[in-house]
Amino acid sequence: MSRYIEAVWCRPVDRLPIWLMRQAGRYLPEYRAIRERHTFMNMIQTPEIAAEITLQPIRRFGLDAAILFSDILTVASALGSKLEFVEGKGPVIDNPIRTESDLTLLSQTPIRDSLHYVRECIELLQSGPLGNTPLIGFAGAPFTVASYMIQGGSSKDLTLVKRLMLTHPNIMADLIDRLVLATADYVSMQIEAGVDGIQLFDTWAIHLSMPEFEEWVMSPLKAVLNRIRNPRRVPITIFTRGSAVFWNRLATLPVQCLSLDWQVDIKGVAGLAPSHIALQGNLDPMVLTATPTVLSSQVTRILQSAGNRPGFIFNLGHGITPDVPIDMVTRLVEQVQAYQPVYEA
Ligand code: CP3
Repeated sequence: MSRYIEAVWCRPVDRLPIWLMRQAGRYLPEYRAIRERHTFMNMIQTPEIAAEITLQPIRRFGLDAAILFSDILTVASALGSKLEFVEGKGPVIDNPIRTESDLTLLSQTPIRDSLHYVRECIELLQSGPLGNTPLIGFAGAPFTVASYMIQGGSSKDLTLVKRLMLTHPNIMADLIDRLVLATADYVSMQIEAGVDGIQLFDTWAIHLSMPEFEEWVMSPLKAVLNRIRNPRRVPITIFTRGSAVFWNRLATLPVQCLSLDWQVDIKGVAGLAPSHIALQGNLDPMVLTATPTVLSSQVTRILQSAGNRPGFIFNLGHGITPDVPIDMVTRLVEQVQAYQPVYEA
């Protein structure tokens, strides 16, 4: 068994596992070399390319888990969002959902047909090149994917999404219901294809009040988790921004692990979280752009706060950014992989 899988089930490990959100990406020259010749959509839709990019950070750093190279917005695109990734702007959707008639135009094609290339990429990776490194599959949670489909792209404050939620909750609910079905099917397909773990991303939960969080994050997540077909009991992790406020609600979900954002006091959560829930996190990705001394002391703080708890996986508190120097990542991985937890008797 890999250390990632042992830790996610809260079993002891000889040294801590580490992987990084967005570990395949623009900070890697070998990623940029492929990116120069392809659009982002083309990269994720070609199984051979997506598999190669998935492997890049594993080869370079010897991370303890690989994450499938794809994006959470493939599901939006499968449902009919006209999605493009624009240099300097991120995802842009040309036909955002604002009215009931926008909803009727959405596609009914089963996810397993529209996203067959994801299955093919997983099968390719699991046919040998990963060796013993576990492969994490993922999906965006309904609220976060809905946010992009409504807003039409990235946004600081989700103004249009919140307005739609408040003035036309029926449209929001219809979209969320469709996304619950699509997400559960998508995750089930990834499990069937052979992933070893799943991570759900509900990044934009941070914009919600507690009652809104219950309605638009907790309920849809419960519905997704109920519908996922998971005969192999593949462990499931949930990441949100805003975990300082929401982590104890998320800990009541039938998931194995909480991925904590960088704002959370990880020592506090490690002391309070139920012992059957693993924790993952939570270095501020900005620290990777500071000095080696700052990095080392921040990593030590996290290791001392949570490293001796059965069920801890080191990660960032959000995705790695394109400006991170590679040697800082090497240092991070070396320091974490040298850490041998001491468990209380
Ligand atoms: O973690 C991994 O390495 C796996 C791949 C992965 C990507 N995106 C690759 C990517 C994963 C798990 C995601 C998740 C994702 N995508 C989230 C949830 C987590 C988070 O970061 O909050 C969200 C909100 C998205 C939507 C998205 N995709 C945005 C906002 C952007 C633009 C931002 C940016 O960095 O440009 C993307 C594009 C994207 N997804 C890139 C990568 C490597 C950059 C694409 C490029 O090369 O131009």
